[in-house]
Amino acid sequence: MLPKVEIVNLNKSFYKDGVEIKVLDNINLKLYDGEFVSIIGPSGCGKSTIFSIICNLQNQDSGDIIVDGKKDNINKRFAYMPQKDLLFPWRKLKDNMILPLEIQGEDKNNSYKKVDSLFDQFGLSGFENAYPNELSGGMKQRAALLRTFLIDSDIMLLDEPFGAIDAINRDKLQVWLLDVWSKFKRSVFFITHSIDEAIYLSDRIYVLSDRPASVKLEIKIDLERPRDKKIITSQKFMDYKACLLSALE
Ligand SMILES: Nc1ncnc2c1ncn2[C@@H]1O[C@H](COP(=O)(O)OP(=O)(O)OP(=O)(O)O)[C@@H](O)[C@H]1O
Ligand SMILES: [Mg+2]
Repeated sequence: MLPKVEIVNLNKSFYKDGVEIKVLDNINLKLYDGEFVSIIGPSGCGKSTIFSIICNLQNQDSGDIIVDGKKDNINKRFAYMPQKDLLFPWRKLKDNMILPLEIQGEDKNNSYKKVDSLFDQFGLSGFENAYPNELSGGMKQRAALLRTFLIDSDIMLLDEPFGAIDAINRDKLQVWLLDVWSKFKRSVFFITHSIDEAIYLSDRIYVLSDRPASVKLEIKIDLERPRDKKIITSQKFMDYKACLLSALE
């Protein structure tokens, strides 16, 4: 099967005061259709840089991003959620939500209609007219995720979407994300610092090394879906965790 996204021999350095800082060292990653793949690795190793290169916000020094088998002229939009939620504080929630549709040139009233049914699904109904500062941290993250799901793309790049959420709410958001993901059938690259989160959510996990990032380990997570939160106490889950922890040492 052809991967949805294939990252081949990706290299990238930044330069500060003429000194080279090598960030990505021959990174190879694959994402298949409908797959949920997590990327974990130490802070500052280069994870977000990979996403910004995939989205063409930065150029690689060498290597290829192949989407649906094509290398050149990828006129492809990705549903990208950056590390910060990036909701506009001066826009009501519903107006933040329709942003991707507005950018596509959709009529405002049609856009409201399209997002209307989703507020409930994303646990945000009743807050359509609220401004971001009136929302809890968890609600802001769900809103940012809802907006990302509205981008008309089958490939999602989520950069630590739950990084700033407390443990209890984070657990709830993970369960919720798997539920919406199974309904929307998207291919997801997911960056996280949490090993538990990566195992619970993913079909496969890549572990990156310290900077310059290289792929240290790739493991397949063979746990049945839909996943019950209780699996985090199973022996299989613990075995995956031990394996990932030792790769991160
Ligand atoms: N535009 C830039 N110019 C110069 N250096 C940069 C730039 N972007 C990132 N870097 C450097 O590249 C390295 C990797 O950054 P990146 O944001 O990709 O790390 P990360 O793995 O996402 O970290 P974190 O887990 O903390 O989010 C860091 O040392 C960072 O300082
Ligand atoms: Mg990052």
